[in-house]
Amino acid sequence: MHVLGIVGSPRVNGNTDILVDEILAGVRSSGGTIDKIYISDFDLKPCDSCMACLAGKECVLEDGWREIAPRVLKADGLVMGTPVYWNAVSAQMKIFMDRCFSFLDENYDSEIKGKSAAIVVACGSPEPAMTKISRLILEDFIKFNKMNIVGGVTGLNLQQKDDALKNQALMAEAFQIGRKFI
Ligand SMILES: Cc1cc2nc3c(=O)[nH]c(=O)nc-3n(C[C@H](O)[C@H](O)[C@H](O)COP(=O)(O)O)c2cc1C
Repeated sequence: MHVLGIVGSPRVNGNTDILVDEILAGVRSSGGTIDKIYISDFDLKPCDSCMACLAGKECVLEDGWREIAPRVLKADGLVMGTPVYWNAVSAQMKIFMDRCFSFLDENYDSEIKGKSAAIVVACGSPEPAMTKISRLILEDFIKFNKMNIVGGVTGLNLQQKDDALKNQALMAEAFQIGRKFI
């Protein structure tokens, strides 16, 4: 099992990154191999809705997606991590999801169908309701693309950059999700 971690926070070693890493550590502990990207590292344009992809062409935008797409396709599993920004996913994660439209064919069948997926949502507020929309967005993306949800971890009250590290129960939960990728 080869699993790609996708970090939708611009903060290297921040809460999203820490939790994605912990899931990847669980993957490795059960014999899997891993890869990781920070979406912010890539020059990515928003989808321009040209629909060339639905007509069987590869995405026409010439940018960092040319490097990201093969890494997504190579993976058997994805870990999609986002901080909560204004009640929703980060702009980085939204662009990533929109650009995954390029994996669809004219029947809306996706090249990422059948992969396993886990989600990470890192939230500053202690209030679980604040994560609802982000979880829904990620879960709907996974379902629409006919991927299989392995599990998800939601971190609350993560205000300082490394607060996730201080929450042992959360870290243990993330590690165990990683072990479910088989
Ligand atoms: C632009 C921006 C918007 C945010 N919006 C929210 C929000 O709506 N609700 C919330 O609880 N926290 C919000 N936060 C706080 C982050 O969700 C929180 O600090 C999270 O742990 C950041 O994850 P990171 O460490 O991976 O960057 C926001 C932070 C930023 C920078």
